[in-house]
Amino acid sequence: MKIDLAFSSLELEKKDLEEKAVVVVDVLRATSTMIVAFENGCSAFIPVMTVEEARKLAEERNDPNLLLGGERRAMPVEGFHLGNSPRDYRPEKVKGKVVVMTTTNGTKTLVAARRASDVFIGSFLNLSALVQRLKMANRDVIIACAGEKDLFCLEDTVCGGAVVDRLEKGGLATSTSESAMVARLLYEHFEADIIGMLCSSAWGQYLEGVGLGRDVHICALTDSSRLVPVYREGKIFLE
Ligand code: MLT
Repeated sequence: MKIDLAFSSLELEKKDLEEKAVVVVDVLRATSTMIVAFENGCSAFIPVMTVEEARKLAEERNDPNLLLGGERRAMPVEGFHLGNSPRDYRPEKVKGKVVVMTTTNGTKTLVAARRASDVFIGSFLNLSALVQRLKMANRDVIIACAGEKDLFCLEDTVCGGAVVDRLEKGGLATSTSESAMVARLLYEHFEADIIGMLCSSAWGQYLEGVGLGRDVHICALTDSSRLVPVYREGKIFLE
């Protein structure tokens, strides 16, 4: 199994995704929030790029089971039912619901990944289960870090490095790209203090500054979930 890593959605767009398994990682907070939502009974997400697209889709479907979720600059979008905080996605709000979701980097990266044969949702929350799922998929892997506005961000790269670390230690990697190798080195550096890394990251500090520091702690709960949502035909769901 070959392992590659893209530091942002822009880089992902330049890669050949045919026959690949892509793992989309937006640790703070989109993919972590999705995993919490599925744990709480959410039935699916439909990721879209823009607020307008999300509103239009909800209008067209006119379905009481459909909710609008997402953020801009970490804050809920006006008129949406849910923001992008994992604490918003409580069972009483999301059980059995489909969420049309738009976030700055996370859903953009998902949309960029949709050409791949398999697309999985990853974060620290489902790390071990994700590695198991990749093993089963038995395809070359590309870890798609959401990054920040088309550029590198620390937390997604470290989480991607954790996936690389586990695949290599499990003897599953036959070759590793330079970007995946660097991500693994970063993970090794921060492994003993993931919460410290998240809190010191630029976006972690921003979230803390706007009163969302508790979310950062939730996103650090490594292996708190065994769920690995898939993204297929426009929807994210549990197989
Ligand atoms: C994003 O997609 O950029 C994020 O998930 C931002 C956030 O809400 O923390």
